[in-house]
Amino acid sequence: MSETHNARLQAIHVLRAVIEQGESLSTALPPALRELDFRNAAFAQMLVYGVLRWRWRLEAVLQQLLQKPLKAKDEDVRLCLLIGLYQLNDTRVPDHAAVNASVELVKQLNREWAAGMVNAVLRNFIRHRDELLEQADKDWQARYSHPIWLIKRLRDDWPDQWPAILDANNQQAPLTLRVNRQKISPDEFVQQLELPADADGDGVTLHQATDVTNLPGYDAGWFAVQDAGAQLAAPLLDLQPGQRVLDACAAPGGKTAHALALQPQINLMALDVSESRLVRVAENLRRLGFSPAHTPPLPNGPAPLASLSPHGEREQPRCAIIIKAGDATQRDWWDGRYFDRIMLDAPCSATGVIRRHPDIKSLRQPDDITELANTQRQLLQNLWPMLAPGGLLLYITCSVLKAENEQQVAEFLATTADATEQVIQADWGQARTHGRQILPGENNMDGFYYALLQKAR
Ligand SMILES: C[S@@+](CC[C@H](N)C(=O)[O-])C[C@H]1O[C@@H](n2cnc3c(N)ncnc32)[C@H](O)[C@@H]1O
Repeated sequence: MSETHNARLQAIHVLRAVIEQGESLSTALPPALRELDFRNAAFAQMLVYGVLRWRWRLEAVLQQLLQKPLKAKDEDVRLCLLIGLYQLNDTRVPDHAAVNASVELVKQLNREWAAGMVNAVLRNFIRHRDELLEQADKDWQARYSHPIWLIKRLRDDWPDQWPAILDANNQQAPLTLRVNRQKISPDEFVQQLELPADADGDGVTLHQATDVTNLPGYDAGWFAVQDAGAQLAAPLLDLQPGQRVLDACAAPGGKTAHALALQPQINLMALDVSESRLVRVAENLRRLGFSPAHTPPLPNGPAPLASLSPHGEREQPRCAIIIKAGDATQRDWWDGRYFDRIMLDAPCSATGVIRRHPDIKSLRQPDDITELANTQRQLLQNLWPMLAPGGLLLYITCSVLKAENEQQVAEFLATTADATEQVIQADWGQARTHGRQILPGENNMDGFYYALLQKAR
């Protein structure tokens, strides 16, 4: 079997895992890609992302092309057709190659009976492309390629912006890095990069996707992969030397590492309920030069600042970091000492990062939002008593739904006597009744929500 055929087969396995078994791309994709060489892994990834992104539009086209719907047991054949349609409509794969490969694919899946049908359906698409797409696009679900419940929810929350949000969700996200100033300056890094990129502060956005592990300084921790919207979190904490800081939902540690880069002299606890995801926090912190994980808090105040070594490289800062597995809706992991800062990057619908994770459109269900809002409420209520008087809690989601954002914060403020909002003054996003919202695609950022809450002294 050729490698490209193998790439298409792997794409089918991943799509089945997401669509049928509800697995996320972050768990289903990596093992499949490991079966392929670099070029074919990139091809398989493009097919998977593309089909998940355009699924509702492709399905509406397919529905017109099939004489009768396929049976549930023929899901693999249906996915071959969606992959074929995606290649024909959205990629530069030549038409004849897309058709032939799709026919071969069903044969490899031992579905010889479907070979003729797949051939006919795809050739019909080529002949009637414009009419088929025009007809499909009369329906919002197909036109915007999102499940209808989510379209309605976004329309209710963002009566003016919902079409732009949906269109942004279907764009490919940029590859944005955060330069780790503990190791290298952004200017030096961009010089070393030798790839077209735009730099803005510590953020560097590459003009095209690439394997970050091959970029200069990956192993040496010169940079972290972090969306520009996520890079806004740590600076809002106003971290000061010696503070006790809780990152309550820390994994995989993107914002934890940024907080440490901005202020290495803090006592930081990185908590997460998922032990397996905490392994990634430890790996990320170690690569970026913040180690060792599980260092006990420094008994006599803050650690010294990073210093310059004789080679001009910055030495690893000594930070006091505890990485802990624990449920932030419970207290059993807390030693009773107040935190000066709490970062609560809450589990959420992730509706702000759909362009990066198109599987969210298939995985998320309407009832999830109520459940997530309940968890967010519990997290806020449980963590608030752990905050020192005068301390700050930064509430973050990568959601664009008001129930998880400004309504959540409004309810918390209304029911918590010693909480006030510190209004975030910024030149990004938009001020809401409470907090600030970035909608996906704004200044090339993912959709994020930030609200800063202060405890009375
Ligand atoms: C949005 S992600 C955090 C991303 C992370 N802050 C970063 O910047 O890399 C949310 C995290 O919350 C964790 N989580 C979910 N429920 C939790 C709970 N009850 N207590 C602690 N962590 C929880 C999840 O395991 C997940 O890692």
